[in-house]
Amino acid sequence: MAQRIAVIPGDGIGKEVMPEGVRALEAAAERFGIEIELTDFDFASCDYYAEHGQMLPDDWFDQLKDFDALFYGAVGWPETVPDHVSLWGSLLQFRRRFDQYVNLRPCRLLPGVKSPLADRQPGDIDFYVVRENTEGEYSSVGGKMFEGTEREVVIQETVMTRHGTDRVLRFAYELARSRPRKKLTSATKSNGIAITMPWWDERVKAMGANYPEVSVDQFHIDILTANFVMHPDWFDVVVASNLFGDILSDLGPACTGTIGVAPSANINPEGTFPSLFEPVHGSAPDIAGKGIANPIGQIWSAAMMLEHLGHQEAADAIVAAFEAVLAEGDRNVLTPDVGGTGTTEGMGRAITERIKG
Ligand code: NAI
Ligand code: MG
Repeated sequence: MAQRIAVIPGDGIGKEVMPEGVRALEAAAERFGIEIELTDFDFASCDYYAEHGQMLPDDWFDQLKDFDALFYGAVGWPETVPDHVSLWGSLLQFRRRFDQYVNLRPCRLLPGVKSPLADRQPGDIDFYVVRENTEGEYSSVGGKMFEGTEREVVIQETVMTRHGTDRVLRFAYELARSRPRKKLTSATKSNGIAITMPWWDERVKAMGANYPEVSVDQFHIDILTANFVMHPDWFDVVVASNLFGDILSDLGPACTGTIGVAPSANINPEGTFPSLFEPVHGSAPDIAGKGIANPIGQIWSAAMMLEHLGHQEAADAIVAAFEAVLAEGDRNVLTPDVGGTGTTEGMGRAITERIKG
């Protein structure tokens, strides 16, 4: 049966990099004999909002729920729609309603991309950040009292459940076990946040009993961020609560150079609902329309999607293709963010040619 994929370009450079993501995806599918069926959607974009006064149609859930995966570009056009409206009205709806409780980001230094960290080579930085994506510090429990008076008080509770914590830890352990180093690092702050974080540490230890082959360490979040910069080679799989993971999953890819190459996945591991694959970057209004956005973030997201759907070989071929194009370093092909003078389409086509083999 064909894999059914919803294609949602969104806004700004999302509309420019998506065609390259699709081109790469189709080439890999063709080469490895994977049947895919793509369906385009114009919602979850600010253009759709301008026309309909909302980011999504009322029946979006039913329209999307039976797809095998969602392939997303980027959302946001702050000039016309405030960011909290566009983001909460689209991406965050998908993440919550489709229970995509794992946010997964690879942090890997690619050939031909200069790390902002001195003297780092490809191979030195190669790890994943696994972020809890549904609860924790990002809760709606709390409130304001005595607003506007001297007694004004605001409270927002962190909510960690055993169900929510154990399932993301299980995913992280499984991922660590599947990798050669088999190493898991937990982000904590049990010295300062003295109720939830010691409990988090206990859950890490308890889950670890099922994975004796995985070695585990933990760092408080403050020194952990420092170690991302000073010792990125220490890490293999890093698991974190929603807030800590949010910070680490921006810092990690930042240590590997341009934001234009970083991919991410929002995963519902059980497959009850579709998972969503998207570049880390946003709609980049500053370069939108110029045709110079780096398409690798979108293309690498396609590889993560194929891997998630069980097509490891096809995923590997996509990664090998963009690594080869980067390593070759042809300035006429590379986009400006990686030191070239090329275009989104030119670089996308060069990568696709490689995928075809
Ligand atoms: P951004 O990621 O869109 O851009 C940040 C900087 O990186 C800009 O200078 C941009 O030109 C550059 N950049 C981004 N992607 C690039 C690429 N593929 N190639 C070359 N350079 C690239 O973040 P910003 O400017 O903070 O947000 C712009 C809009 O995007 C906002 O509306 C924001 O809410 C939205 N956004 C959406 C995200 C999503 O859809 N997941 C994630 C982040 C931001
Ligand atoms: Mg973030």
